[in-house]
Amino acid sequence: MYIKEQILAHQQATQEWLSEKSPVEITSENIEKLRDVLRFHEHRYYVENDPLISDYEYDMLYKKLEHFEKSNPSLISKDSPTQRVGKGLIKDFPKTQHLVPMLSLENSYNDEDLIDWDRKAKEMSGLELIEYSVEPKFDGASISLIYENNLLMRGVTRGDGETGDDITPNVRQIKSIPLSAAFSKHNIQQIEIRGEILMNKNNFKNYNDGLMEEGLPPLANPRNAAAGSLRIKDTTIVSKRNLEGFLYHVSFIAKQNENIADEVHSHSDMLKLLWELGFRSPQKEMKVLSGIEKVIAFVNDFEKQRDDLPYEIDGMVIKVNNLELQDKLGMTSHHPRWAIAYKFKARQATSKLLSVEYQVGRTGAVTPVAKIQPVQVGGVMVSSISIHNEDYIKEKNLKIGDQILIERSGDVIPQIVKSLLDLRNGDELEIIFPTHCPVCDHILFKTEEEAVWRCTNINCKAQVVERMIHFVSKDAMDIKSFGEANVRKFFEMGLIKSIPDIYEFDVEKLSGIEGFGAKSISNLKLAIEASKLQPLHRIIYALGIRYVGETTAKALAQRVNDIFDFEKMSEDELKQMEDVGVKVAKSIFDFFKDSENILLLKKLDELGVKMRQEKQESKEGAFSGQTFLFTGTLAKLKRSDAESMVEEKGGKILSGVSSKLNFLITGEDSGSKLEKAKKIAGIKILSEEDFLQMLTL
Ligand code: IVH
Repeated sequence: MYIKEQILAHQQATQEWLSEKSPVEITSENIEKLRDVLRFHEHRYYVENDPLISDYEYDMLYKKLEHFEKSNPSLISKDSPTQRVGKGLIKDFPKTQHLVPMLSLENSYNDEDLIDWDRKAKEMSGLELIEYSVEPKFDGASISLIYENNLLMRGVTRGDGETGDDITPNVRQIKSIPLSAAFSKHNIQQIEIRGEILMNKNNFKNYNDGLMEEGLPPLANPRNAAAGSLRIKDTTIVSKRNLEGFLYHVSFIAKQNENIADEVHSHSDMLKLLWELGFRSPQKEMKVLSGIEKVIAFVNDFEKQRDDLPYEIDGMVIKVNNLELQDKLGMTSHHPRWAIAYKFKARQATSKLLSVEYQVGRTGAVTPVAKIQPVQVGGVMVSSISIHNEDYIKEKNLKIGDQILIERSGDVIPQIVKSLLDLRNGDELEIIFPTHCPVCDHILFKTEEEAVWRCTNINCKAQVVERMIHFVSKDAMDIKSFGEANVRKFFEMGLIKSIPDIYEFDVEKLSGIEGFGAKSISNLKLAIEASKLQPLHRIIYALGIRYVGETTAKALAQRVNDIFDFEKMSEDELKQMEDVGVKVAKSIFDFFKDSENILLLKKLDELGVKMRQEKQESKEGAFSGQTFLFTGTLAKLKRSDAESMVEEKGGKILSGVSSKLNFLITGEDSGSKLEKAKKIAGIKILSEEDFLQMLTL
């Protein structure tokens, strides 16, 4: 949508607004220019997925505008970027009628269905070859948007197809949906656009992780998460869900001047126009193809890449490209004849719930796991599914012997959608939750507020092992060659009994044991050694304090220099911290009041695990005066952690290759930076292994 000159102009303006020396002052004359710059960056980020400035710089621009508007409220415009986040609590969603009924699509499941559909379209139109536009079938919640005189006026759910819920305040939170667009330039006075609201896989995972951290069961799929989010009555929460919108169909246009010729003749023209107007249409994902054979090849190919996409799709939609031909083919009473959905292999399947087993986690939580008749779901064989807790079992009305519907959505762990109650024959059995720990037989305990039963014996073997598994895991201390299997193995062998043993046990003892050659022993040693220098937030997370997930651990780490500072904090002080509520504060407080936990931390400290961070800007250390840059994918370390390690040792991270660079650390697929560095004398090019070695020197 933005041409080169506009991009350069916006970047130039960005620099001027952000300039440290002489930033441009906002006035009533140039305020719209600042809004345009913000809209440009929103478009780069949310629509094109290719930002040109950092989040921080965007925030600075946004705050500048917000500040000015606060002191000059008469200058606030409805489509100002600040006007997305209404602070509103919505009372109820009013019902509203769609300008054109929202029909659904006919479904097809195989090549024959498509060939048959194409044959009918050819017969009706008298054509021998039809041009199709093919795009993903987005798996979210469908939406209709109305723009009038360039402004977003209404966002409505599908509802029953005739009438839906007016959820405009929530739709305004979705950053890829423009609050205004230059329709008038195209002679359009009013337009109704259809699309799909999604939660991408990454955001869905974070959202589900958050639910689970809270002890709540996760949602089965991002579709439910998107649909549920659109119905929240507090716009500030909706805004945090990071929803996205794809717009793929125009159902109604009222023109300003009927005499002006149309510039849009095909569906692909329409997608292009929407894209140019700033909408996220499937412009990049779609393809125009002549003849159904090419369509079939394309959709089959697309299905193979389904898991690589950042969002869920459940098939492809094939549309007759020419709009006149679409009109000619018309509709049946249920769906248009000019479009068809091609559904991918189902990720739902039915099976039978055979029995329930109970697993004990690191916090003692007892999780019921349903053993089911093994069944393929989306190419994966599923034989057990977590059913979370006792309340979940009651809510879903699950019984042993039930026929169940299960779903595996992308890389989300499989979930039970529901029991098929109509298929019960009376032989089904209640699921009775145990009263004692299945591992150590200690009595189980549950608080009023929680849905989870727990074993409170902290020496319960299951908990001890799970705590160690969490400690070494990727997002915690990331001790690469350790892993779950080795923790279990070393525990069984009596080599490790508690977390400090990880740093004390003699790795050499493993030589001679199957699977442990000299190389893997040395890798394990290096990984254990490197983990001692992990940034503070990782050890905080690794301790497995209840309710302290990665995000909270990061927020906590920023507030202290030393992990032992938490020992001195009151619950009230903890509550003052961002992201820390009553429950979390109590949990942290209890953890640091427990003398066994403090002993554990002291022991780790003695063993050389880093328990503190200095807040000074630049540090003195082995890397002082040296500059580093990482490129490519690192196998052992997270990029951000590797960078923190450099800074911890007094080194500096550079943003690009130049003669000022001392070390370039290369991971897999190192590209242009490596090539450039090779040409500059004096830059040392190292592997990740070399870097790990350097850390231990
Ligand atoms: S076109 C009149 N295109 O699938 C035609 N629909 O099963 C309007 N959907 O109700 C629909 N991706 O919610 C169209 N690229 C796409 C789509 C799409 C997802 C949804 C839409 C529709 C449902 C039909």
